[in-house]
Amino acid sequence: MSKTIAGFSKLSKEEKITWLTKNFFNNENEVVDTIKKYWNNDHALQQLHDDFIENTITNFYMPYGIAPNFIINNKEYVIPMVIEESSVVAAASLVAKFWSTRGGFKTTVVSTTKIGQVHFMYEGDEDELKKYFNEQKSKLKEATSSITKNMEKRGGGIIDITLVNKTAQLANYYQLHVTFETKDSMGANFINSCLEAIAKEFRRNDIEIVMSILSNYVPECLVRSEVSCNVEDLGGDDPEKFAKKFEQAVKIAEIEPYRAVTHNKGIMNGIDAVVLATGNDFRAIEAGAHAYASKDGHYKSLTHCEVKNGIFKFWIEIPLALGTVGGLTALHPMAKLSLDMMGRPSAPLLMEIMASAGLAQNFAALRALTTMGIQHGHMKMHLMNILNQLGATSQEKNIISQKFKGETVSHSAVVEAFNELKN
Ligand code: MEV
Repeated sequence: MSKTIAGFSKLSKEEKITWLTKNFFNNENEVVDTIKKYWNNDHALQQLHDDFIENTITNFYMPYGIAPNFIINNKEYVIPMVIEESSVVAAASLVAKFWSTRGGFKTTVVSTTKIGQVHFMYEGDEDELKKYFNEQKSKLKEATSSITKNMEKRGGGIIDITLVNKTAQLANYYQLHVTFETKDSMGANFINSCLEAIAKEFRRNDIEIVMSILSNYVPECLVRSEVSCNVEDLGGDDPEKFAKKFEQAVKIAEIEPYRAVTHNKGIMNGIDAVVLATGNDFRAIEAGAHAYASKDGHYKSLTHCEVKNGIFKFWIEIPLALGTVGGLTALHPMAKLSLDMMGRPSAPLLMEIMASAGLAQNFAALRALTTMGIQHGHMKMHLMNILNQLGATSQEKNIISQKFKGETVSHSAVVEAFNELKN
């Protein structure tokens, strides 16, 4: 029997769950119990979440942690992080503490320009198109005036519109390339509305508009965060050797794409966690960051390191198109709480905080990788997760942790050790 359904969105939440469990599960009661366990008893709050998307049947929890001790441009921050991967918050906190006694993170927002494009086809004479564009340019801006009015009051709006000839790459293909300043809002709706108004005004019989959409590639919405100290202040048994090895690890990620992807994934562990906690769009951030990592023609590290004249310097440069007003940042109570925790930052300040979280994460990963190896920390967390699942007491956890010190942790070995201890 077919499992396709018409008018699904019109069903009530209960009806949707019944349809789902009847058609796709054999253990209906158990599934309904699990789904309902995650409903919020506060009806208004549940309704708020239900309305974010379509066909909502329940909520999906992610842990919300905080990483204290971040000093960014001499100011203290506690950074909220939403992530399911163990070790990420611990690593951010440890590294923040480490750099807090070595001058903290120094950040600068390089630029805040966002981009959108009207893609169109035109078969006629290019000079005639240029003439039409130049005559139209002020009208194109005027066509957006009802949309840009409020943004202009906040100091934002359309920066420029240029005509771009792309016919060398695709026959008859041109663009209107539009640059925007959207201040503290991420600006996706604003940009797309402006582009559609521009396209409507620009349309002509011989101009076929294909689409109008913002770009998530934002190389001119760029932030830099840096840590530095004397090599000897890095601590440990042999700080010089550590600095050298650390620098080599970064240089490898600058030239070797297989390593660079994992290296950058570690950076995004930190960044995505703050993006999620603040109700920003993690898909947009991911897409933009990885595109930027490929801007020189091959994929490479987003962080860089230099050890020179006894100074260790480590920095990140990353595009981050963020919002601290509007969208989910205003709607989701936890996103609002996250922003309050950081003193209600402007979008540029949030760029600086996030870049620092990413840099901290990368520092933690490279420090572990170039010294003890990554599994050392992971094994401890893995062991704790298994022991928690088994319901071990803290005394049992201590005994079993001692037993597994320096050993590889497997689920079956831990269960065996736990059962032995119990007996
Ligand atoms: C794991 O989530 C992230 C790392 O693999 C990053 C890295 O290798 O640099 C540890």
